[in-house]
Amino acid sequence: MKKIGTITLLLTCFIALSQQKTIDEKVNALLKQMTLEEKIGQLNQYTGNNQATGPITINPNKETEIKKGLIGSMLNVIGTKYTRQYQELAMQSRLKIPLLFGQDVVHGYKTTFPIPLAEAASWDLAAMELSARIAAVEASASGIHWTFAPMVDIARDPRWGRVMEGAGEDTYLGSKIAYARVKGFQEKLGNVNSVMACVKHFAAYGAAIGGRDYNSVDMSERMLWETYLPPFKSALDAGAATFMNSFNDLNGIPATGNKYLQRDILKEKWNFQGFVVSDWGSIGEMVNHGYSKDTKEAALQAITAGSDMDMESNAYRYHLAELVQENKVPITLIDDAVKRILRKKFELGLFDNPYKYSNLEREQAAMNNPEHRKAARIIAAKSIVLLKNVIPSAREKNILPLSKDTKTIAFIGPLVKEHKQNMGFWAVELPELDYNTQVVSQWEGVKNKVGSSSKLLYAKGCEIDGDNKDGFAEAVAIANQADIVILSIGERADMSGEAKSRSNIHLPGVQEELVKAIQATGKPVVVLINAGRPLVFNWTADNVPAILYTWWLGSEAGNAIADVLFGDYNPSGKLPMTFPRAEGQIPIYYNHFNTGRPAPNDTAFNYVSAYTDLNNSPKFPFGYGLSYTTFEYSDLKLSKNKIKSTEKITVSLHVKNSGNVAGEEVVQLYLRDKVGSVVRPIIELKDFQKIQLNAGETKVLEFIIDKEKLSFYNAALQWITEPGDFDLMIGSSSTDIRLKNTFELVK
Ligand code: NOJ
Repeated sequence: MKKIGTITLLLTCFIALSQQKTIDEKVNALLKQMTLEEKIGQLNQYTGNNQATGPITINPNKETEIKKGLIGSMLNVIGTKYTRQYQELAMQSRLKIPLLFGQDVVHGYKTTFPIPLAEAASWDLAAMELSARIAAVEASASGIHWTFAPMVDIARDPRWGRVMEGAGEDTYLGSKIAYARVKGFQEKLGNVNSVMACVKHFAAYGAAIGGRDYNSVDMSERMLWETYLPPFKSALDAGAATFMNSFNDLNGIPATGNKYLQRDILKEKWNFQGFVVSDWGSIGEMVNHGYSKDTKEAALQAITAGSDMDMESNAYRYHLAELVQENKVPITLIDDAVKRILRKKFELGLFDNPYKYSNLEREQAAMNNPEHRKAARIIAAKSIVLLKNVIPSAREKNILPLSKDTKTIAFIGPLVKEHKQNMGFWAVELPELDYNTQVVSQWEGVKNKVGSSSKLLYAKGCEIDGDNKDGFAEAVAIANQADIVILSIGERADMSGEAKSRSNIHLPGVQEELVKAIQATGKPVVVLINAGRPLVFNWTADNVPAILYTWWLGSEAGNAIADVLFGDYNPSGKLPMTFPRAEGQIPIYYNHFNTGRPAPNDTAFNYVSAYTDLNNSPKFPFGYGLSYTTFEYSDLKLSKNKIKSTEKITVSLHVKNSGNVAGEEVVQLYLRDKVGSVVRPIIELKDFQKIQLNAGETKVLEFIIDKEKLSFYNAALQWITEPGDFDLMIGSSSTDIRLKNTFELVK
């Protein structure tokens, strides 16, 4: 049996190798036939007829240029009809090199899944892989070959609007999620149901100073390697076909013109064989950075640094040929970039059939698959985080879950009846999509759930923004008629996302005042907070008995929220980002270093590292989230308390569902390396398991501690372990540590 397995494996490797060889041969043969102009053509990407996702550079000749073979890829062309039309133009070119169609398929295509940050709160890697898979099935059926996802930027600043697009603040969790998403999108490249992933934004874009989009990044090499690069490496290990560089400069060098990032690290050290696309206009923008004196110099710097494809800068289009003729850019550089792109076109099977992905029948079937909606509903429910659920005065039990027999429910707030808002930023703008029928509003979700058994009352109360309180009286009046109030508030979907940084991340407008007015009625209140980032809502958090953080959950938002509200799904989400008490604490993240003067008990007094007007601790910590049941942790055992770096420790523990309903728990393993040649974080996530337990059930879990988990970058940037003591902490969040032990790493 084992022998047959080995033979099959060898055979598969052999076939893969020989296929690779034939692809390389085909690429080389094609390259030989190409003129310099045609080669450079492959390196240009332009936006098409669908909504533009950046400031368009005017290129009036796109169609003619495609026919001449002067464009290699288009973005923002969607649907079999349009992708086919554009591809037909490319088929009129001399060498008939097919176009690549790229698109930001960030959290679903037609079936919209929760925004990536919300999905990260599920800590459910299989769920995230599945949502990426479904997105790939739908997008590829619509003619798309390539998604500009996953975004794997570590984000520690909720003012930055793009936190919604990634997996949050933690490197370990972010790396696991990056891997799962790439696997989901790509499965096996070349299958008609798969799309190429594009890992972005390389690199360190998430650390923009002040949380202001596109801003500079200045960080130590150690932080770059330890915190910001690992998710990219993990995505590459999962087989990511392409990378996108980023808008920011890193320590003074724009990422787009950064040879250290793109060539030295990505292409050489990591041996990346795919291609790098610039971000939108980022080659030309190096002139604004003050790094290039003009677009021609920017083209020279970008191609030299390893940016293979120019998205919307027109820099390669207009300057590369001249740069080659002037001997400033060796032709080998151009050839390398072209080969990388052609190789992907061959791997996708586009030379065999350029219309492979544009099939109307497949498109219609994929867009209307009820299984996709089912998955979207489950994944949305898994993404919701229960922040609070206490027993209010005058009641003997928690408000949540709500009883389906509640007589009268007042459903109040500016987001209750919204459809499109639930899609969040970066939802694909499919032409002619009727949001009212395609997105389940929260109102519809609750109505579907309670049918005629509860009376549902509605008032908007106020707008998301602005200071108008005219609707308060009506809202209070219907609250007074109800047994329970559900209050749905938050951001507008377009308040987070690209170019949506905010200096003030409090609940916008008069919404928190609406919460106060409703809470004053004395009725039991559940607040739903819809947002693309951690918001600040201290009064609500301190006074309202039940809060669900519902982010933006996509097509099935309303149903998923109703599933959680009424207990058909027991919430299991955990925060992938720290929630601050105030903007003044930002950047705030759980795995920080200790200072020489830590503040005991989180409070300020003289000569400690603290704010005199605010606690250091966050409002809600990383890894936090409640359930309708409770979990007991016990029996922590370590197979050894002393190991050499070549050895491993098996950690085991028991987790019991000690409540009355089934539920899921994310069991989190943290380490602290107590003394190092460079200071180490006070606590660091190193592993986790999401488990499902029936009421009363106990499971035994095992984790392995190995060298990888104990390593870090020392001052010389070597990835090493150092002998010494470690704290091991197992908990339900980064601050709710239930079990502890220590071990020693010896020489
Ligand atoms: C700019 C964004 O930064 C990037 O993430 C996106 O993929 C491109 N625009 C294309 O829309």
